[in-house]
Amino acid sequence: MADLVDEIKAKLDVVAVISQYLPLKKAGANYKALSPFTSEKTPSFMVSPQKQIWHCFSTGKGGDIFTFIEELEGVNFAEALQILADRAGLKMDDYRKKNNVANKSEKDEYFKAHELAAEFFEKQLYSTNDGKKVLEYLHRRGLDDEILKEFRVGFAPDRYDVLNPMLLDKGISKTVLLQSGLASTKNIGDERIYDKFRGRLMFPIFDYFGRICGFGGRALNKDQMPKYLNSAENLIYNKSKVLYGLSHAKLAIKEQKSVVLVEGYFDVLVPYQNGIKNVVATSGTALTQDHVRLIKRLTENVYTSFDTDEAGFKATRRAFDLLIGQDISVKTLAGLDEKDPADYVLEHGGEAYKKCVDEAIDFVDFYIGSLAKKHDVATFSGRKFLMDEVLPILKPLSDAKRMIYVDKLASVLGIKSDLLFSELQNLKLPNDHPARQTDDNAVISAKKLDLDEIALGIVLYRPDLFEGLLEFLNEKDFSQEYKGIYKELTAQYNLARENLQAWNFEKGVLADNKAKLDVLSLYAEDRYSLFTSEILKEELEKLVDKMRKNRKTQTLKGIQSEIKMAEEQGDMEKVKLLQMQYLENF
Ligand code: CTP
Ligand code: MN
Repeated sequence: MADLVDEIKAKLDVVAVISQYLPLKKAGANYKALSPFTSEKTPSFMVSPQKQIWHCFSTGKGGDIFTFIEELEGVNFAEALQILADRAGLKMDDYRKKNNVANKSEKDEYFKAHELAAEFFEKQLYSTNDGKKVLEYLHRRGLDDEILKEFRVGFAPDRYDVLNPMLLDKGISKTVLLQSGLASTKNIGDERIYDKFRGRLMFPIFDYFGRICGFGGRALNKDQMPKYLNSAENLIYNKSKVLYGLSHAKLAIKEQKSVVLVEGYFDVLVPYQNGIKNVVATSGTALTQDHVRLIKRLTENVYTSFDTDEAGFKATRRAFDLLIGQDISVKTLAGLDEKDPADYVLEHGGEAYKKCVDEAIDFVDFYIGSLAKKHDVATFSGRKFLMDEVLPILKPLSDAKRMIYVDKLASVLGIKSDLLFSELQNLKLPNDHPARQTDDNAVISAKKLDLDEIALGIVLYRPDLFEGLLEFLNEKDFSQEYKGIYKELTAQYNLARENLQAWNFEKGVLADNKAKLDVLSLYAEDRYSLFTSEILKEELEKLVDKMRKNRKTQTLKGIQSEIKMAEEQGDMEKVKLLQMQYLENF
């Protein structure tokens, strides 16, 4: 496997890989971006083409292209390898055969089970009598066979014992079937399992890579409950992290620089078939922070097109709070005549829906407008209601945007803008507000470097400044983690002295810790590359000074506690001795 890793690394540059996901800005010899892991406002995510590494200084995450894909796609190493092998144009299969590498991961069995189940459901849809009736229903709802096949739509017959025996036969374990919710038992612990999805229209749910990871099963009769039966969350399916349709839509989202967010499976399929391809839905859950991060990887423009009922209105508002927390612009489709997207497209066609997308209005405008329709702003209680509802959504916005909307709200309410501004100033967002949460998380996860790490970073980046450390510091000033490294640097420095050009990372403790040290050096390079040598030396002196002060405080604290102990033991002789020591070190 090591060969393949090297081969991939030789073909793919870290900057090219990462810039597919994040907008990288050049910063000296390196590149920078806002961390994809926090909602920070100043970039702390760095990429070094020279070292072929990335590091996020606000979370401490970092590594090479493989760890980047693992982190951002939420996949394991084997999957990251596959993704990058694809990108590099290298065939994993050939490689595996050649090198006899087994690639059996626990997830594979889950994927296999879902793939086989999807094939089974598809077959049922097209080749059974019951299935054909369902197919007619799908046609009536405006879906043709081409799209049904593209999205692998199927039918689960109304039977207890067809799917699971077949899957067991094909070597899928009972545990996997139960965990993934394809099978169920009557009582917990029962031996006998039965098919969980019965008499339902089956929508396979795809993960980011287009692999089937779950199902949404729609009822076909009025008395069938629930209307949608969704897969249980399992090793490969986490509903908070999956957007229905994303693997199909991702190219279109990138091309059109926007995504249309809808509520249901039909709302994805019908518009998709009619030319609106940048469409996704949450499945079986409200929009989550993880969904938003997923969206943000591809675009910063969201059109919400939820159902036009009260629930859809509330869901839109909730989605806005989350999206704006990640600086995503939100527009909302209006004018769908009380219809959900699927029905609207069925009735008026794709072009009409596209027009609704083009004419979508800024969410805040939409929100103010909708509320003003429902509540009489001529009354005090109506005005109060609008203020209470609208001001909180303005709070997380930029100053410029706030100005615009405050003026708008003021004119709708017939109140002076100033008054609204001061209300807004005093307003506190509740603790559980998404915009607040992300900020707090960023602060909590902010991981600063220690003084000794910064000092080491500087001399790793500029070996010529090492003397400045050597003169005033010793091993004691470094934490356990770095003592050996400092010792090795000292040894190398003493050997080469003025002629030291670069540190030798070939073997020993430096080689063993290369990844960690690269990060420290990258940090220093980013922070200090614009400093003149003089100023950098001063900076290093200040650091050294602080480190020595820290050492002194530590030493004194140590002696102090020894004194206390000696006092408690009544060893006055020792107390005196220690007090002398204390003064000497002071
Ligand atoms: N949903 C769910 N569980 C339910 C009801 C709904 O998970 N009991 C989810 C499904 O993802 C569904 C979406 O919420 O697609 C929207 O629900 P709804 O509008 O009721 O269904 P549609 O998919 O629009 O189906 P239809 O248009 O046939 O009513
Ligand atoms: Mn619907």
